[in-house]
Amino acid sequence: MWQLDILPTAQSVDSEQISNSTACVIDVLRATSVITTALANGATQVVAVATTDEALQYRRQNASGFLLGGERNADKIDGFDLDNSPLRYTPEVVAGKTIVLTTTNGTLALSKCRRCRQTLVASLLNTSATIEYLSQHSCDITIVCAGTEGRFSLEDALCAGMIADALRHRFRLTDFALAMAQMYNSACAELKHFASQGFHYQRLVQKGYAADIDFCFDTSKQLPVVVCEGETCRLG
Ligand code: MLT
Repeated sequence: MWQLDILPTAQSVDSEQISNSTACVIDVLRATSVITTALANGATQVVAVATTDEALQYRRQNASGFLLGGERNADKIDGFDLDNSPLRYTPEVVAGKTIVLTTTNGTLALSKCRRCRQTLVASLLNTSATIEYLSQHSCDITIVCAGTEGRFSLEDALCAGMIADALRHRFRLTDFALAMAQMYNSACAELKHFASQGFHYQRLVQKGYAADIDFCFDTSKQLPVVVCEGETCRLG
């Protein structure tokens, strides 16, 4: 039986060690929710880069047809077109465009999975499609929670636990994946309430981004699967 593991933070990723597995990167608040939303709203691709320098370099090398988005300290980066609020990535703004995105933890986690067999982008907005897609896989799966600056984040772990729980009959869960599936099961009736005790959740509320949180926790949307090739993410 193939194994399903969960890593708690971007910093805990050993790129070489997971290179034979399919990675599934989760940053519920908010990077992977933004990527999923932008693509579902018609962006042609999201180029996920780890640093602002890489985003600015993209701007120097390309004349038009793209928008720079992302955050540092949860706020818009000076000179960028968009912040990291999924509510800004509407069809009117993103349709037909490339989005170049850099965020503190989410795009960092993605950059560490570039050598994997395949990398998916998951959030609470596309769990059903992601579970369905992963259930067809015949290889190890590593779910990478982005976390918050090296710390474990409840919302990412709950989403990872939900996916692990749904796949537990097809994959052998590691001890940590079992623990996250169990945590998800104890909290699933009040997912948002449980996550609201978390550090990053509370920081976003304090900074005035409560509407983003509501959006990211709306599990009724169920958008398509997102697959990355190198730094480029597209609908699968
Ligand atoms: C990140 O990648 O660190 C985030 O998505 C932070 C945020 O803007 O909420």
